Amino acid sequence: MPDTLTKLAYQTFQQGKSVFGLAHKAVGIQLTNLVAPSAESKTVPVSAEILGQIQQRYNQIVEADWRDAEQGVYPESILFDNPWDDFFRFYPVVWLDMPSMWQRVQNKQHQEFDTAVETRGYPSYYLQNFHHQTNGYLSDLSANLYDLQVELLFNGAADPMRRRILAPLKEGLQTFRDVPPTQIKVLDVACGTGRMLRNIRGMLPKASLYGIDLSPAYLRKANQLLSQNPGELPQLVQANAEELPFVDNYFHAVSCVFLFHELPAQARQNVINNCFRVVKPGGTFVICDSIQVSDSPEMAPLMENFPAMFHEPYYRHYSTDNLEARLQEAGFTDISTQVHFMSKYWIARKPAEGQTEAAQQVNQTIPVEV
Ligand SMILES: C[S@@+](CC[C@H](N)C(=O)[O-])C[C@H]1O[C@@H](n2cnc3c(N)ncnc32)[C@H](O)[C@@H]1O
Repeated sequence: MPDTLTKLAYQTFQQGKSVFGLAHKAVGIQLTNLVAPSAESKTVPVSAEILGQIQQRYNQIVEADWRDAEQGVYPESILFDNPWDDFFRFYPVVWLDMPSMWQRVQNKQHQEFDTAVETRGYPSYYLQNFHHQTNGYLSDLSANLYDLQVELLFNGAADPMRRRILAPLKEGLQTFRDVPPTQIKVLDVACGTGRMLRNIRGMLPKASLYGIDLSPAYLRKANQLLSQNPGELPQLVQANAEELPFVDNYFHAVSCVFLFHELPAQARQNVINNCFRVVKPGGTFVICDSIQVSDSPEMAPLMENFPAMFHEPYYRHYSTDNLEARLQEAGFTDISTQVHFMSKYWIARKPAEGQTEAAQQVNQTIPVEV
């Protein structure tokens, strides 16, 4: 297909997802306010100007996504990768799950788990009904609905936001250009249902990929999704990102998507310290998470509404947290940030052998609030 036609097809595909997501949210919010009006879900109004800016940012990320594919950073085919089977199977279930969600919202129940769900052994901050999800991250139902819910929340831009990680990751791997592609090792921390790994696999068909997550159910789902791809299956490990079960200096690159806003401050620092430990000298660490107040002050009403509408107990602190300082505290250097649509990105490098000591001397001057 000529490029202009492929671009048009991609834009139409994204536009369709966007309209569907907006319509879903409009009905969902009306129904929630009708059935389960709760002081907690009182939100601040979002002006037409902000909505216009969101649309503009949406168009920009779609354009950037297209451009990277066109320039060969990743194949155009991954732009159209969508779990259609899951969409048709689980979209009705999103609605069927709402009454129990409304009940929890009304009763202010945020740490509710079925008795059949094993909750022992997890950090207490994790045992939450994040996004008011039934059984939090600890059930197959939650894992089956997660990707669909994130797509609806971001009007179909969840994968385009994840893919903003790919160009810096690929660029970072240039440091190891002499390493054969099959020996490149990349870890995705808090891989959830595996969508980031699926996108990385599209860009790095030969690399050894690894994913860790605390949720056995999400890892099961990731295994399903990733085994559809030809090529070597990523290694999936159930573990706490604060204590990564890998030896020091093991990975050429590490990514982490949408985790930090769900962690308390000290856990954020622990995860960053661990990512520093397992990445090789000269390796790259890329984070994608929510925008923050400092870079997107005009989006402050949305950042106010997010934790009020979805159960996100650590989001407020996250939204003003200084992750650059945390990365420096861990030892990372060459830190840069980007903002695309509703996400912010931190790209950081572990100093190559011999540079570590000098970098640490600079780091000691930066205070980190925990
Ligand atoms: C918002 S989801 C993001 C999932 C995925 N990265 C994505 O792109 O959608 C957060 C994920 O982090 C995992 N998680 C939360 N705290 C964790 C921790 N301390 N260690 C490992 N995984 C954790 C959850 O189980 C969940 O899969």
